[in-house]
Amino acid sequence: MKQINVKIPALPRNSYPIYIGQNFLDTLLTKIQNDHPDRSLFIITDSNLAENNHLKKLTAEKDIPNYIINPPGEKSKHIQTVVKIIEKMEQQFYARDSLIIALGGGTVGDIAGFAAAVYKRGIHVIQIPTTTVAQADSSVGGKTGVDSTISKNAFGAFWNPRAVYIDVATLNTLDQTQYLAGLVESLKHALIADEKYFTFFEKNIDKIINRDIETLLIIAEKNCRIKAKIVAEDPTEKNKRRILNYGHTVGHAAESASRFELLHGQAVAIGIIAAGLIEQKMKLAEPDQLRRIKILLEKMKMPTKMPKNIKSNQIIQLIKRDKKAVNKWPKFVLLEKTGKALCKNQQWAHDVAPETVKDVLAKLY
Ligand code: GLY
Repeated sequence: MKQINVKIPALPRNSYPIYIGQNFLDTLLTKIQNDHPDRSLFIITDSNLAENNHLKKLTAEKDIPNYIINPPGEKSKHIQTVVKIIEKMEQQFYARDSLIIALGGGTVGDIAGFAAAVYKRGIHVIQIPTTTVAQADSSVGGKTGVDSTISKNAFGAFWNPRAVYIDVATLNTLDQTQYLAGLVESLKHALIADEKYFTFFEKNIDKIINRDIETLLIIAEKNCRIKAKIVAEDPTEKNKRRILNYGHTVGHAAESASRFELLHGQAVAIGIIAAGLIEQKMKLAEPDQLRRIKILLEKMKMPTKMPKNIKSNQIIQLIKRDKKAVNKWPKFVLLEKTGKALCKNQQWAHDVAPETVKDVLAKLY
């Protein structure tokens, strides 16, 4: 057997601008066309965005071909939607010089990003997130994907956008529960990486809940800076990027067990409380930490207890299937203190005994 070593230059560019502002949707398309004069544009959005006028605002009467995902949300996040998008683009002769614009929440961003990653082996994508989850989390960092019938994001790719445009005024059309649930990802950023951001959150929680634009602009920037810094250190989630999953191990299990009755942020809120209880048991937490987190989550009207119809044994079974589990048991992201994820032996995710997790789950009812 002969071995030949080839040296292939590193993969595509990984840096991109994030623009943050308010009420710029109706002038954005002209900017995108000016910035990418040689690209054929194709918009992917969903029926919510089409109904609440965001699509109309973005296109501003310009005739840009689009695909409208319907029904919106997780139900459409499967490979068939990607097949339909790709075939529509093929029918309309889109080539490798195309640019997909993803206008919408996390599901739209994930589907459109994945379609861009695989269409003709990869075309450009621009993310325009319009929900609190997407603006704080999913539009930045390059994770894209769709679900299989067996698990979430079974088809996936890391595919960075060429740019992200965050217009905080688009959040005004979200219903209050969705709006608040998405903010849990912002709180997560504060908990894992920035104590000052956590105190900012505490001081400004009423303004945040009431969608004060100036406050939303501040938190959009804080989220992007925190997330981008972590992703830059570990783009493909080998180690440090795992801290972005704080609260997500129990959270994802609760989300699945509820058959998506719990919104992602609601489930992560329960997962953050579970992580806090684990920290207490492992004598990691500061005395007041969990109480302060609970006060914020309660103000945000997030659940802090596991719904009674979800049994702790169901959660344990689902945790064993966590995609990052080794020998059927995952490692947990924990806090050393408010604003600082725990790093031990250069690892950012940690062993927690199943008994500890079972004890904690029992306290969650
Ligand atoms: N949402 C977690 C991450 O982007 O890694």
